[in-house]
Amino acid sequence: MQDKPVDKDDILKELSELHELDYNYSDGRILGSMCTEAHPFAKEVYCKFLDTNLGDPGLFKGTKRIEDEVIQSIGEILSLDVAYGNIVTGGTEANLMAIRAARNHARKYKGIVDGEIIIPESAHFSFKKAADMLNLKIVEAELDENYKIDVDSLKKVISDKTVAIVAIAGTTELGLIDPIEEISKIAFDNNIYFHVDAAFGGFSIPFLKQRGYDLPTFDFSLPGVCSVTVDPHKMGLAPIPAGGIIFRKEEYLEVMAVDSPYLTVKTQSTIVGTRLGASSAATYAIMNYFGKEGYADLAQDLMKNTQYLYDGLLEIGYDVICKPELNILAFNHPDIETNEFAEKLEKLGWKVSVAKCPVSIRVVLMNHIKKTHIKELLEDLKDLF
Ligand SMILES: Cc1ncc(COP(=O)(O)O)c(C=O)c1O
Repeated sequence: MQDKPVDKDDILKELSELHELDYNYSDGRILGSMCTEAHPFAKEVYCKFLDTNLGDPGLFKGTKRIEDEVIQSIGEILSLDVAYGNIVTGGTEANLMAIRAARNHARKYKGIVDGEIIIPESAHFSFKKAADMLNLKIVEAELDENYKIDVDSLKKVISDKTVAIVAIAGTTELGLIDPIEEISKIAFDNNIYFHVDAAFGGFSIPFLKQRGYDLPTFDFSLPGVCSVTVDPHKMGLAPIPAGGIIFRKEEYLEVMAVDSPYLTVKTQSTIVGTRLGASSAATYAIMNYFGKEGYADLAQDLMKNTQYLYDGLLEIGYDVICKPELNILAFNHPDIETNEFAEKLEKLGWKVSVAKCPVSIRVVLMNHIKKTHIKELLEDLKDLF
């Protein structure tokens, strides 16, 4: 910071120069991001609510009502009549809240002190952060040959210390949906908290199902499901930061509540104190502007693009890891080692992402990747043979 004030134009010039170093979604070259450019209308609304603070909801009663309505609307998409939860900064915070609720619930009602959470090998690394912060041990359930939770392996690791089981609806690396119906039954029968991480899939699976896609049930219609993460800033086209955590019962928020003496409310259950009302308002705006039909169109278009890339890859001889369930594809060149393959693509200007399990190039076909970009990618991939 300078001692004396700097002219606005100079500041803006400097910021623009730095901003120029960023990649743009609109170039269609960012292949591995689960976020995309937010819808212009959502951005417009976001700016109008920049000063609202949901950490002190008594001062922002209207914006709090907007958050409640967004939670209710997302709950409805997930087959829940009355939903509880919050719009938070993203999937990481949503997962952290879910695991905190599970831990506190198990501590209060079952007396579990040194708890464990069961997560699949495919789980997002946010659960490692949650376990670390909440002093929980991670127990991994193995994946089957289709890269989904192996239910027998999961059953074997349940113990009297298990405070939560986690399954994924739209895995980060492959976009796959775990056998959530089966796991819900196991969790329900064993009276264990069950969290579904649908950070990525939550804004597409329900709409794709409406359009006739044969995808498994993952939501609150399954009695074992206690909470679901769904991120508006991924497939919901809301501006960053916007994650969503939805709970089946209010008691999951209550077990996390701490006294908040100087505020307009007596207790607070969120992790973050001062928090953006703008995220809720922008999510409200885009959800209503799109409607279920708009999201169904979007999800279906992205699935068509995914299929187009899938067919193209097979045609030119690439090894595709699995048939896509959502708009994520992972593949390898038959003769080039994956990291070397990634470097070649980077040199051609593609911003790629390498998956760990299995090691492969991973493309998330978000809204910024248009058919023309896929054609260009396929041309470049053809030339690598
Ligand atoms: C399945 C899943 N859960 C959670 C997260 C974490 O979300 P965020 O980066 O918004 O914190 C991601 C991010 O990619 C994800 O794919």
